[in-house]
Amino acid sequence: MNKFAAKAASALCAFGLGMALTVSVQAATPAEEQIIERIKPVGSVCVEGDENCGGAAAVAAAGSSAGGRSGEDVYKASCSACHGTGVLGAPKFGTNELQLRLDEKGMETLLTHALNGFNAMPPRGTCSSCSDEEIQASIDYMLGN
Ligand code: HEC
Repeated sequence: MNKFAAKAASALCAFGLGMALTVSVQAATPAEEQIIERIKPVGSVCVEGDENCGGAAAVAAAGSSAGGRSGEDVYKASCSACHGTGVLGAPKFGTNELQLRLDEKGMETLLTHALNGFNAMPPRGTCSSCSDEEIQASIDYMLGN
């Protein structure tokens, strides 16, 4: 081995060792972070009144458990997209279509269908955070009550 080759080899060696060191030293933390990130739960349960919960989650929990949303609010947020224009044959708001169904089937059936879904009517009108009372209130609102 000539002098140059020896130097190159040792430089390469030092470089390789350096790389190995930096990789092993640096890799530890981000790798651990990635693992923590990967295995952490998808959602976290927020108990009402828990000050440590995320602000938005706490507000959502308070909103749904307090039954705070009015029938109008729920209708506008979750039902109007279909019932406003009668999409897919949804009883149209501002007409007597829903009233006719009420006369025919009764409120219990309408509520059950609104909660569980009925043909193209999705369960809870896709408002999964809506309480039964809020769904009932939005039906009442659609009926003009
Ligand atoms: C994706 C569109 C869509 C959304 C959003 C939606 N609905 Fe409907 N809904 C329908 C359709 C379509 C029907 C008619 C189903 C049928 O008769 O086959 C219907 C029917 C109903 C009925 C009558 C059920 C029956 O037995 O005749 C009620 C009550 C109702 N919806 C309430 C709601 C409420 C309350 C919301 C909001 C919380 C909502 N819907 C959101 C599409 C929707």
